[in-house]
Amino acid sequence: MKTKIINYPNLNEAKSRVKSETEFSFYSPIHINEMKELGKGKKYYIHTFGCQANIRDEETMKGMLESSNYVQTSDPSQADVIIINTCAVRENAEDKVYGDIGNLKKYRKINKKLILAICGCMVEQPEILDILINKFPEVNLYFGTHEIDQLLDLIFETYHNDVRLIAIKSKQGEVIENKNVSRNNEFKAYVNIIYGCNKFCTYCIVPYTRGKERSRHFADIMDEVRELKKAGYQEITFLGQNVNAYGKDLDEGHDFADVLEEAAKMGIPRIRFTTSHPWDFSSKMIEIIAKYDNIMKCIHLPVQSGSSEVLRLMGRRYSREHYLSLVKEMRSKIPGLSLSTDIIVGFPNETVEQFNETLTLVDEVKYESAFTFIYSPRRGTPAAKIEDNVSYEEKSRRFKELVKHLEVNIEADSKSYIGGVYKVLVDGVSKTDKNMLSGYTESNKLVHFKGDESLVGKIIKVKILESHTYSLIGEIVNE
Ligand code: 5AD
Ligand code: SF4
Repeated sequence: MKTKIINYPNLNEAKSRVKSETEFSFYSPIHINEMKELGKGKKYYIHTFGCQANIRDEETMKGMLESSNYVQTSDPSQADVIIINTCAVRENAEDKVYGDIGNLKKYRKINKKLILAICGCMVEQPEILDILINKFPEVNLYFGTHEIDQLLDLIFETYHNDVRLIAIKSKQGEVIENKNVSRNNEFKAYVNIIYGCNKFCTYCIVPYTRGKERSRHFADIMDEVRELKKAGYQEITFLGQNVNAYGKDLDEGHDFADVLEEAAKMGIPRIRFTTSHPWDFSSKMIEIIAKYDNIMKCIHLPVQSGSSEVLRLMGRRYSREHYLSLVKEMRSKIPGLSLSTDIIVGFPNETVEQFNETLTLVDEVKYESAFTFIYSPRRGTPAAKIEDNVSYEEKSRRFKELVKHLEVNIEADSKSYIGGVYKVLVDGVSKTDKNMLSGYTESNKLVHFKGDESLVGKIIKVKILESHTYSLIGEIVNE
């Protein structure tokens, strides 16, 4: 099979940030009509790894495929198109993808016309793409996060020309509106407000794969929120690598606080957002979150480390003191605030003293939940060039110690719910017991309780009877 390279990724190009206005365009596939024929009677299978941005990308790809008559299947052996949507943020995320391709490649032997596609952040790293191409000759389509809007045309070309197609452009990126969407959930929705990242934290690959920070037009976001409200959605989550940066690249006079406020006024019952960078979290945002009942009092505020020196080496733009004073302001102005975070253990040459500063910060902030990671060198990032004197065993030890510290507070926080009555958005039915439902409180605590399936998608009241570290057990309160 011939390989056709439309574009090959390049980290130097991916790094460039030329100051320019955000470009906007509309979704316009060339082969949409032919694709409607091609997709008839055919199925697609999609497997997504990684963050909410990837999940939202999956929903866009599903929308495009369904607009050309493909139907989703959860059985890859039945599929005519298989898409693996990858994550590159840590090595273990990449390892899972290698395993997945290993499992799925056999279907190309059975179905010679199968499109086996890999997309997402992983393929945007040239060295990883080289490995994938050599290791998996079965894969016949590679495309990046900037080519998602071209999915139908890429499938068309791969199918008709029997080539292996590589279309991965490293660029700053643009905003493309009017893309189709087929959402995974009928009552909870993700709404992109800003794409990309300009922060270039020294350990992170994301700014290289997802391009520069580029905000959607305020009016386009609000149109989407209005439609979701009309369709009966109970919860929306505004998405961005850094939602606080919203609007800085536009000349529209709207910032993230305005997005929150305008959406809150539309009356969607629950509004959430992720992720916020502590560096540019404004007092205006804090005030708006405090002001509206339907903006959930949950802030995901990645700290990464409790040591100002490590934060400096990470390029995080804030110190331990700045972070703690921001937390203090948030807690004093937003009663009942639930804080969650991301923490990296074992940044190159992190000393025991610096790690202990992370422990004392965690004890002081008292997070309600946290994602913890062992540092994973990402080729092409500045931190990956630093010679590291800390062994992996020592990093694992620190990781376990950190989790212990976090769990002390998470457990105490869970216990404090016992006896209280909380509003819960019912998420679904337990896989093991049809009579058990689960859902989330406004503060994002997972609750299990007995109830009927008809309650899924509704907000109900639940009295908490028991607590575990990461979940609660309750009973429905009938009013
Ligand atoms: N190693 C470990 N964790 C990382 N993260 C990002 N890059 C790395 C890396 N190289 C974590 C950060 C970020 C979260 C999404 O992933 O904590 O906030
Ligand atoms: Fe990565 Fe930092 Fe951007 Fe978050 S803010 S995506 S950690 S570079």
